[in-house]
Amino acid sequence: MLNGKHIVLGVSGGIAAYKCAHLVRLLVKEGAQVKVVMTKAATQFVTSQTLSVLSKHEVNTDFFDAGHNWINHVHLAEWADFMIMAPLTANTLSKMASGTCDNLLLAVYLSARCPVIVAPAMDLEMYRHGSTRQNLERLMQYGNYIIPAENGELASGLTGEGRMAEPETIVQYIKEQFILKLPLHGKTILVNAGPTYEAIDPVRFIGNRSSGKMGIAIAEALVHQGASVILVLGPSTEPVSVKGINLRRVESGEEMYEACVSVYDSVDAAICTAAVADYKPVSMAPEKIKKKDETLQIELIKTRDILFELGKRKHQQCLVGFALETHNLEAYAKQKLGNKNLDFIVANHALEKGAGFGADTNKVTIIDKHNNLVNFELKTKQDVAADIVAYLIKYMKWA
Ligand code: CTP
Repeated sequence: MLNGKHIVLGVSGGIAAYKCAHLVRLLVKEGAQVKVVMTKAATQFVTSQTLSVLSKHEVNTDFFDAGHNWINHVHLAEWADFMIMAPLTANTLSKMASGTCDNLLLAVYLSARCPVIVAPAMDLEMYRHGSTRQNLERLMQYGNYIIPAENGELASGLTGEGRMAEPETIVQYIKEQFILKLPLHGKTILVNAGPTYEAIDPVRFIGNRSSGKMGIAIAEALVHQGASVILVLGPSTEPVSVKGINLRRVESGEEMYEACVSVYDSVDAAICTAAVADYKPVSMAPEKIKKKDETLQIELIKTRDILFELGKRKHQQCLVGFALETHNLEAYAKQKLGNKNLDFIVANHALEKGAGFGADTNKVTIIDKHNNLVNFELKTKQDVAADIVAYLIKYMKWA
């Protein structure tokens, strides 16, 4: 359920820090990527090596790493979808409440714009103390989330409130408070992306310059909003790094058609970004075509229009297409919207600087079947993907 989520785990120096190893394992098993930041005191209770091996990421304790490189706390904070402070000691709690910034962990905390969840752990009297109560109150006022300490045996030998919540409780809390509330939780969405290769002979094909970047960015943005994503990807060399995407690789338009149709009835939405070849060779030569005459003719036949076929079979699904145009953008996009029975279409200008195939940026216009039209600025494909996903959520009233 935490597939692809980025979590910064802040560990401060209390005996409960030993439980962090288990917490990291649980989070990683749930599909999250975890980066651990520790205070120096925390390293006396659990080693950074242990947490680094378990998290598969470098663990940072200082503003500089072993090679004297500066650790950018702002980047770390921006990377995070969630920050968990576990265990949170009385000392770090007090610093968080007062805005003290004398270590990397506190700098990351102060830079974080994501939800911050804290799991305090301290001895009975410390946990009961008026200043602790006040500091926790203040953290709540700042918008942080508190997982109260549990009752039980404490390191001092006393029994009472102060034990850090168990790692299982922390994971469950995140799921219930955040993941289950994501707008696309429980939705399954099909995305197709990339080019298709239509074989001429065993070694040659007809293809196009599509990189698949836009569709991959959309698949990732959907996962971040809680969706289960099936990504049918043509021959693209782009990495698909976010966990939680059910990736199905295909090569030809026909394979892409089969893969899309086989899951279409069970999805809530389909977003077709693929640059499917419009024509393919009538037949594939069984052996490599030898060089002979001055000219060579290859007879082509239309491929199946996947989006058109999905439009015909549409029940309750939201169907979204793309339109890549060099001219008459709006008119052609509207034609495709109607002909293919779409809910909305994302039109982009192939010749505009920074837009279209291969680029890392895109500039799109969304037109829906109720004739609403929204022009977006030139943005990174990740930001364009977030806009498209936000449009989908609003259009379907899923939030
Ligand atoms: N599409 C598809 N199958 C095809 C061709 C296109 O599913 N064989 C989909 C694309 O994934 C896109 C939309 O149809 O979502 C529009 O694709 P585009 O290439 O812009 O238009 P075409 O319909 O192919 O028409 P034309 O090439 O004449 O502009």
